[in-house]
Amino acid sequence: CSLAVLNGPNLSRLGRREPGIYGKRTLEDISRGLMARFPDVRFNFFQTEYEGGLIEKLFDYEDGGSCSGVVLNAGALTHYSLALRDAIAAVSIPVVEVHLSNVHAREPFRRESVLAPVCLGVISGFGEDSYRLAVEALLKKGV
Ligand code: DQA
Repeated sequence: CSLAVLNGPNLSRLGRREPGIYGKRTLEDISRGLMARFPDVRFNFFQTEYEGGLIEKLFDYEDGGSCSGVVLNAGALTHYSLALRDAIAAVSIPVVEVHLSNVHAREPFRRESVLAPVCLGVISGFGEDSYRLAVEALLKKGV
């Protein structure tokens, strides 16, 4: 099966960005880890600093018809991007929201996700493992 792993703003900086919160592993490390762990899954990895870039990718996947699930770490867009929420609602591909950190144990503004209601589920607080758990959840759903 074919899954997309989408990362939004500032996740390009993983490894050197607030390592006490987000860990020392880079996005590249995380991507390689997923490929090693799930050799039978065809992954499409994408990161952008732009809201519209994530929206366009979702529509590309929907129109292309070859992507059966999306793991999405939208970064701070999670907390306020109604445009991204509407895009997730507009596509039929299941999306799992992930966060490296436990957003509920941090600043109050991180507790709200405007994306969560239109996602299949949310995994937050397990560092790199949040991505693995999201892939497992999608595979278990039979995507
Ligand atoms: C994050 C949590 C967000 O609140 C934050 O803006 C990020 C990263 C996480 O993975 O823990 O950029 O999505």
